[in-house]
Amino acid sequence: RAAAPVSPTGAEVPGSDAGRVQQGEYLTTAQGARVRDTDHSLKAGSRGPVLLQDHHLREKIMHFDHERIPERVVHARGAAAHGVFESYGTAGHLTRAKFLAEKTTTEVFTRFSTVLGSRGSADTVRDTRGFSTKFYTEEGNYDLVGNNIPVFFIQDAIKFPDVIHAGKPHPDREIPQAQSAHDTFWDFVSLHTEAQHHAIWNMSDRGIPRSLRMMEGFGVHTFRLINAEGESSLVKFHWKPKLGVHSITWEEALMTNGVDPDFHRRDLADAIEAGAFPEWELGVQVFSDSEDQMFHGIDLLDPTKFIPEELAEVQLLGKMTLNANPQNYFAETEQVAFHPGHLVPGIEVTNDPLLQGRLFSYLDTQITRLGGPNFAQIPINRPRAAVNDTLRDGYHQTADHAGIAPYHPNSFDGGNPYPVKDISETSDAPSALIDFPEPVAESVKVRASPQSFDDHYTQVTMFYRSLTRTEQLHVIQAYTFELAKCYEPTIKERQLQQLTHIDADLAAGVAEGLGLPVPEPLQAPVEPELLSPTLSQIGGTWPI
Ligand code: HEM
Repeated sequence: RAAAPVSPTGAEVPGSDAGRVQQGEYLTTAQGARVRDTDHSLKAGSRGPVLLQDHHLREKIMHFDHERIPERVVHARGAAAHGVFESYGTAGHLTRAKFLAEKTTTEVFTRFSTVLGSRGSADTVRDTRGFSTKFYTEEGNYDLVGNNIPVFFIQDAIKFPDVIHAGKPHPDREIPQAQSAHDTFWDFVSLHTEAQHHAIWNMSDRGIPRSLRMMEGFGVHTFRLINAEGESSLVKFHWKPKLGVHSITWEEALMTNGVDPDFHRRDLADAIEAGAFPEWELGVQVFSDSEDQMFHGIDLLDPTKFIPEELAEVQLLGKMTLNANPQNYFAETEQVAFHPGHLVPGIEVTNDPLLQGRLFSYLDTQITRLGGPNFAQIPINRPRAAVNDTLRDGYHQTADHAGIAPYHPNSFDGGNPYPVKDISETSDAPSALIDFPEPVAESVKVRASPQSFDDHYTQVTMFYRSLTRTEQLHVIQAYTFELAKCYEPTIKERQLQQLTHIDADLAAGVAEGLGLPVPEPLQAPVEPELLSPTLSQIGGTWPI
């Protein structure tokens, strides 16, 4: 059976060599020579030793021995699908990115994931879910690499190895896995208090989605959009599932993990196969690109904060429909390489220090994970736009480059086959480079965060108080269950103290569940009248 091209519309991926495999009528070696027997190795007599000269045996076993590649260092377990993004064509005033500004249809590939579990872990664990989409636009690939929770644990990428080390299995016994129920995780979030916000979302029903089809997605960081006039706006991306947001209870999650650890990936694949294609609308909250990059007292560069929708509504830009399952998990879901730096003209990054670190990390890890620097040539990663770069050679190079002058400008290859035309030579061609002339503050080098990053509790309190009583009880039960798994009393006590800074009722409920006294808060709990104007303006309600 010939491997089909990966495009869900049936269009062949440019340059795809997928059609070259599994095409013949007969079984062959990797060299194309016909094989008569693949079940018996060549021996000196039927009971004799196996002969080294059996190349088919050697090739078959050699290849099997190297089938595994390293799993992702985070987000190792995932499920993905192909689809299309149909733009409403309403974003022209915000961005010149054609796939958003014009009414167009763009092919996409979306991968959902858990963060902490290994590739073989269970689906319905309490964890954040990744939500990554690759848009194969005619101006190049654009990746929106987000999560199903709108805030992140840390404000600076330099802490990313630390928060992941704290959440992954302990190095001595490799337990526990995929659940944040252990001492090091709570040690980290009670010491690095900016993590309290993300942690309470994990402890809420949002931490155990009912289905991958029923999750919101968030770009988390603030990004910059540039329109055709060169005007800049700041935005936060949102995915809104047409099926609504639904969760399962902890008891249901435990049973599901036992009965069907593949529950989420099966649900996604079955729905698509049955023609019940999941849909999400993509939207943005828009903020003016002001000098201080603040909005209602919230720092837009702080990824531990979100902007309530009552303060900035989500403007819908288009709809994504996932309509085709991958043909081959390894080729597509495992080898896809997302990167928050895969941008197209009209979309740029901001100075959010977490985002800046991500720009380094993904490319770096993929060199190891995908075996060298040429993973952009793997069919699932290939742009649909024409590629004309000066990158050459390296492990797993599959392109047969012509010409003698892979540098620019040059005096040899100016014509065919790779015309070299500088973007600055054409007046109207937008560049995909991050080159918006943002003023850079005259400053001194410091290892510090802005003061506006210091408030670690206001939005956590706001989140807890916006929940219904049933949802609050689920949060109390989740903290109680997770903290009960900590062996170190000091860590339970320190996290309980953190809860007193969030809400007195929450702290009392968890303390009672753990059979511990409620600790004295180290600082006054956040009371509504003390909160920033934000909470009073939204009246404590929660945007869904
Ligand atoms: C993978 C989201 C922060 C490093 C992923 C994936 C998602 C994601 C969805 C899975 C991609 C896939 O499906 O293949 C996020 C979000 C973040 C965040 C929303 C913060 C808002 C960071 C930071 C770092 C980081 C700060 C490092 C400094 C990685 C790495 C991978 C990864 C190394 C594995 C990539 C691969 O092997 O292909 N992240 N992440 N992430 N993330 Fe992040």
